[in-house]
Amino acid sequence: MAAGYFITGTDTGIGKTYVSCALLRAFAAHGETVVGMKPVAAGCENGKWEDVEKLVAASNINVSRQQLNPYALNPSLAPHIAAEQAGIEIDLTVIHHAYLDLSCHAEVVIVEGVGGFLVPLNAQQDGADLARILDLPVILVVGMRLGCLNHALLSVKAIQAAGLSLAGWVANCIDPQMRALEENINALVQRIDSPLLGVFPFGGRADYDQLISKLQNN
Ligand SMILES: Nc1ncnc2c1ncn2[C@@H]1O[C@H](COP(=O)(O)OP(=O)(O)O)[C@@H](O)[C@H]1O
Ligand SMILES: [Mg+2]
Repeated sequence: MAAGYFITGTDTGIGKTYVSCALLRAFAAHGETVVGMKPVAAGCENGKWEDVEKLVAASNINVSRQQLNPYALNPSLAPHIAAEQAGIEIDLTVIHHAYLDLSCHAEVVIVEGVGGFLVPLNAQQDGADLARILDLPVILVVGMRLGCLNHALLSVKAIQAAGLSLAGWVANCIDPQMRALEENINALVQRIDSPLLGVFPFGGRADYDQLISKLQNN
């Protein structure tokens, strides 16, 4: 069975795809077969879902778009609303089966969540339920910007409340103008009881070897 990680973030647009692709490339550079999964993608542009295309490009095995992205929704809306507009309901067991199938083909599966951790997926379930059904350790991507301390600490509490293990977190520097960046990262290091896997500079990438070794030491 493959090693799998569920990538969540402090918000949408804070670098989940960016970090997921870096993780895929880091494991691939380490000699592993890797595949990215985007269970639910919302927001179609020119017949393509950008996250899905990026994850495909960073994967090193061939699987169909349908396998790695069971739910591709056209409007760029909260997933349960986009699904409702399409007349469908997101079924987490469908996603679970797709994940199990992928995990037979690759040594590492990186599952990128949608939005933030508690985003609703259907009338009853949310992102936390998805991570729980997949039973994967979680990696939290913190988009470093003003307001991220609260978002990060709330996300950590929600991950713990879901009974999931937080394998680590990533400081993703999405705001090149952020003031007191180091102090903000230190504030999280002091308060999050899981390793900082890496600091991604703006426009750059974290040390791949360090990313992998910190995950494997867990
Ligand atoms: N460390 C970074 N440096 C520069 N640009 C980044 C960085 N992380 C993310 N971005 C850019 O920010 C945008 C949102 O990132 P993305 O990974 O798509 O976020 P999410 O998956 O959380 O919605 C993308 O255009 C991405 O290329
Ligand atoms: Mg994304």
